[in-house]
Amino acid sequence: MADTQKTATLTIDGQSYELPIHSPTCGPDVIDIRKLYGQAGVFTYDPGFTSTAACDSTITYIDGDKGELLHRGYPIDQLAGDSHYLEVCYLLLYGNLPSKAELEKFEKTITMHTMIHEQMHGFFRGFRRDAHPMATMVGVVGAMSAFYHDSTDITDPRQREIASHRLIAKMPTIAAMAYKYSIGQPFVYPRNDLDYAANFLHMCFAVPAEEYNVDPILSRAMDRIFTLHADHEQNASTSTVRLASSSGANPFACIAAGIACLWGPAHGGANQACLEMLKEIGSVDRIPEFIARAKDKNDPFRLMGFGHRVYKNFDPRATVMKQSADEVLDLLGVEDNPILQVAKELEKQALSDPYFAEKKLFPNVDFYSGIILEAMGFPTSMFTPIFALSRTVGWVSQWKEQLGDPGMKIGRPRQLYKGEAARDYTPVDER
Ligand code: CMC
Repeated sequence: MADTQKTATLTIDGQSYELPIHSPTCGPDVIDIRKLYGQAGVFTYDPGFTSTAACDSTITYIDGDKGELLHRGYPIDQLAGDSHYLEVCYLLLYGNLPSKAELEKFEKTITMHTMIHEQMHGFFRGFRRDAHPMATMVGVVGAMSAFYHDSTDITDPRQREIASHRLIAKMPTIAAMAYKYSIGQPFVYPRNDLDYAANFLHMCFAVPAEEYNVDPILSRAMDRIFTLHADHEQNASTSTVRLASSSGANPFACIAAGIACLWGPAHGGANQACLEMLKEIGSVDRIPEFIARAKDKNDPFRLMGFGHRVYKNFDPRATVMKQSADEVLDLLGVEDNPILQVAKELEKQALSDPYFAEKKLFPNVDFYSGIILEAMGFPTSMFTPIFALSRTVGWVSQWKEQLGDPGMKIGRPRQLYKGEAARDYTPVDER
């Protein structure tokens, strides 16, 4: 941590406590309250962690007011425009952009780990065909700890590295198999002559009966979707991974926990929920009705794909995603797609509505990603699994960073207890 020269003074019942302040590279100062309970006997209260920094990190930085997202200092629009997913994976995992030789070695390593243990195929077949692919992924990724025993010793840095490579390499295979199983088609093995994104598209859309060639524009768009979702500092699923890992759990169990958290509609499940909402709206003339519902305090409906805990100006990922949506739909000859028309008009009307302006609600990354994925041929149930496979590198990078931190402690929040005080048990016939 940086210097601790600045302090904050907290006064409770006339007694003052000096709390150190740490200054980050970028972003607001952080008041260190670690010793507060020991010194003053009080807890702090922050449900939803809206003002709480839970760890130090050097991986990703977000400035919500500026709409800035940096990975290891590099802006996301530069990475999405000029780099590619596996290079960004290297950057997130190791801290710097790779040399040519380092990149080639890394790509080869990831490629060599794309297959999953053959016995895991039987594991897939244990699920119902109509299981949501996220349910299958939670189960299968958790089950990796039963198959890859030689990379579960978290005290061994080499085993940690192998687990990271395995997770990044195998997640597309697992997501594609979950999809193939759900539609009753045979599993397609990975093809190591294809790049990461093209291989994923091939595993999802190829069938043994005919040749399937991946369009390079589509694989570029897929790669960009992976890149835009690669990491996002201490979001709910990443914090879940860190909390699970803080107890010493193995990497596969921790990442399965992250997938489970990502599934919810307030987080990674928003891309599926957003496309379903756009379809429900159906035509531009129904948009005012849905905007009115989103503003109604008595209606739980929210505009999916709108709003973000951190971004209060714009989501830089959404800007790139919108460009990608135009490119992909143009390529596929579906630029008149009615869902895209609804999305564009909804964005326009919401942004000019005082409710959304006052609450600083803007389209987030999930507003346009579903449109691209649907145009590529993915069903809505695959949107969140694609987010999960993209975010795997972020989860493993944060997990690796946490385990390398000598100050790591088990995550154990306190509470504001509002239940009954101690009372005596009464036997059932006396109640
Ligand atoms: N539609 C209508 N009103 C909204 C929306 C929305 N999408 N989002 C927030 N609000 C309102 C909310 O009702 C609240 O109003 P009030 O102050 O009057 O009570 C205010 O804005 C602040 O909302 P909040 O829920 O306290 O904010 P939060 O930071 O806890 O929640 C969020 C952030 C992303 C969960 C929320 O904006 C949301 O539910 N959005 C829709 C789901 C979505 O698109 N999620 C994807 C996030 S980006 C991808 C990812 O990181 O997973």
